[in-house]
Amino acid sequence: MSPQNKIDGIRACVFDAYGTLFDVHSAVGKHRDRLGEKAEQVSVLWRTKQLEYTWLRSLMKQHADFWKVTLDALDFSFDMHGIADTDLRDDLMNAYLGLDAYPEVPEVLSVLKDRGFRLAILSNGTPAMLDAAIKNSGIENLIDANLSIEDVGIFKPDPKVYQLALDKLSVQPGEIIFQSSNAWDAAGASAFGFNVAWVNRFGQSKERLPGNPNFEIKTLMGLPDLIN
Ligand code: LAC
Repeated sequence: MSPQNKIDGIRACVFDAYGTLFDVHSAVGKHRDRLGEKAEQVSVLWRTKQLEYTWLRSLMKQHADFWKVTLDALDFSFDMHGIADTDLRDDLMNAYLGLDAYPEVPEVLSVLKDRGFRLAILSNGTPAMLDAAIKNSGIENLIDANLSIEDVGIFKPDPKVYQLALDKLSVQPGEIIFQSSNAWDAAGASAFGFNVAWVNRFGQSKERLPGNPNFEIKTLMGLPDLIN
């Protein structure tokens, strides 16, 4: 990781959604009492499988949207934990439309917006899933562009996804700083040519992948100090 010098010439701050702006584990968190001691394991496996299915479907060239992938992953996690509760399945999927934003998100976005940066989301989520999460967390007036991989029909970290941000925002790669808590997504965006701040919320080790994020920060609070 390079020294934490400020980057000049940034025009757009682009954010991953799930895990970066929105807490994916808040869905299970809202129904924790119905899952008992399995709650955390169910949530972790749900997220792990969801991501695996995005990568596997991309390799298989069998795209399905993130809602379907999320539901399939939940079914897998339920099966593995011996859970057969269709009401809970429906409630967890609905909760995915109303995930909590991380506490610092509204303030950081508002600071960045006041400084004149364009703010965008670039996510695997479907437009409907992202709209719902944005509205639920009250940040709809702060987000200028809500970019879904559904426009290119393949999941991250396919380079077409990062290219979508350039095309839609009409900026050069060096004019973007991309934020993700998913280290593999941070690596993918960096390998593509973006400036990247890896939001290492979970204290994870660096991925051994191409790409080298410019910055590692613990939460998005660190972002405004990194850019001019
Ligand atoms: C997303 C996944 C990677 O929002 O969390 O694109």
